[in-house]
Amino acid sequence: MSHIRGRFQKDAAEAVVKYTSSLPFDWRMYRQDIRGSIAHANMLAKQNIISTTEAKILVDGLKAIEEEIKNNEFNIKPELEDIHMAIESRLTETVGAVAGKLHTARSRNDQVALDTRMFTRDAIREIQSAIRLLQKALVEQANKNVNVLMPGYTHMQPAQPVLLAHHLLAYFEMLQRDYTRFEDAFKRTDVMPLGSGALAGAAYDLDREFVAKELEFSTVTQNSLDAVSDRDFVIEYLSCASLCMMHISRMAEELVLWSSAEFSFIEIDDSYATPSSIMPQKKNPDVAELGRGKAGRVYGRLMGLLTTMKGLPLSYNRDLQEDKEALFDAHDTLLNSLDVFAGMAITLIFNSNSMSRSLGQGYILATDVADYLVKKALPFREAHAITGRLVNHAISIGKTLEQLTLEDYQQFSLLFGKDIRDISTERSASSKNVIGGTSPSQVAQQLERAGRLIMQ
Ligand code: ARG
Repeated sequence: MSHIRGRFQKDAAEAVVKYTSSLPFDWRMYRQDIRGSIAHANMLAKQNIISTTEAKILVDGLKAIEEEIKNNEFNIKPELEDIHMAIESRLTETVGAVAGKLHTARSRNDQVALDTRMFTRDAIREIQSAIRLLQKALVEQANKNVNVLMPGYTHMQPAQPVLLAHHLLAYFEMLQRDYTRFEDAFKRTDVMPLGSGALAGAAYDLDREFVAKELEFSTVTQNSLDAVSDRDFVIEYLSCASLCMMHISRMAEELVLWSSAEFSFIEIDDSYATPSSIMPQKKNPDVAELGRGKAGRVYGRLMGLLTTMKGLPLSYNRDLQEDKEALFDAHDTLLNSLDVFAGMAITLIFNSNSMSRSLGQGYILATDVADYLVKKALPFREAHAITGRLVNHAISIGKTLEQLTLEDYQQFSLLFGKDIRDISTERSASSKNVIGGTSPSQVAQQLERAGRLIMQ
C-alpha cells in the first residue's frame, strides 16, 4: 500500500491485505461512491476550495471510471483496501495529481457512511417494488378464485369456512406492513453524513446541504461522531428484511403443505418445482422450502450485525466494515425470494374440489350450529356445550352434521327447528360480514382496497 508510505516502513503482510480488504464485496457500491464523489467535487468548487476546472476534471474522470466499471473494463487491484481507494487510485492514473484533491475535507469514514446509506436507500426501493409484485400476484389469484371456499384452520385443525381469496389477502396484509415498515426505515436512512470527516467534522467551509440536495437526501446528520459510527439504518434494513422473510417463510410452509398429496389444495407449476433424482413420481416443493429456509439466513445476518455493533466505542472502528456483506447478502436473498415467490404465486393452480372435500370433513359448521342456538336466545356457553355433545354423537355414529336428521338434533335441544338444515358453508362464510371478515362482500371490499394500494 505504497500510497500511505510515510509513517510505514513495510507493506502489509499478504494475509493481512486479504483479511482487511472489503473490495471483493464493496465494489457493488461503485455507483453510489462515484455519485457521492461527484457531488462532493462540485460542492468543493462551489465553495472555492478547488477550482471549477479542477472539479470538471474530477467529475469527467469519475464518469469515465463509472463507464469502465459498467463495461467490465476496470482492473480491480486486490491490494487496494476498498472501492473508495480503488476508484481514487484509478482516477490518479487517468487524470493525474489533481485526483488527490478529491479527498479534500473528506474521510473514508464519512464516505463509506454515505455510500452505504445510498446503497440502502436503493435497496429499500428495489424491495418495495418486489413486494408490490408479490402483492399483485396474490390479488390476481384472489380475484381469479373469488368464489372458492376452503376450510380455515386454527391449530392446524379445520375451524371455520373461509374464502380462499380472504386467506390469500392475509398474506397481502403482511406484505403491506413490510412495505410501510421499509418506508419508515427509508426515512432514517435518508440522512446525509458527508462532511463529518473522520469523526470531528471538517476544517473547511463546506456546504453540506448542497451535497444533500445533489444526492436527494432529505436532511443532513447532526453529530459527526455519531454519523461515522452509525449503522442503525443497516440494522433496520435487516430487521425489516427479517420480518419480510418470516412472512415469505410462512407462505412457503403453506405452499409445501397445500401441495402435499394429503391436502392437494394447490398444484405448483412445473417451472417452480423440482423432480426427485430417485423417485419418478415426485414433484417436490423445493423452491418453497428454500424460501422457508432462507429466512434463517437473513435472521443470521441481523443477529450478526447486532452483535458486531454491540459494545463498539465511538466513533469509527473497522468492525463496521462487517456491515456490508450482511447487507448485500440479506438484500440479494430477500429480493430473489420475493421475485421467485411472485412467479410461483401467479402460476399456482388452486384445486377447489379438494378444498370443498375438506370442507365436508371436520365438523366445520359446528360454530354455526352454536350460533343458531344463540339466535334462539340460548347463552353462547350453553349453545357451545350442546353443540359439542351433538358433534360427539355424530362422530360416534360416523355421520357429518349435514347427515344428521332433525330428530337427531332435537335429542340435544328442542330449540332446533327445520331451518337448522339451512346451515351451509356458504351461509357460514357470508354471515361473517364484519370489517375484515370472510363474507364475499367484505372480501370484495378488501380486494378493492388491495387493488388501490398496489397502484401506489
Ligand atoms: N472499507 C472501509 C469500510 O467498509 C472503509 C472505511 C475505512 N476507514 C478506515 N479508517 N480504514 O468500513
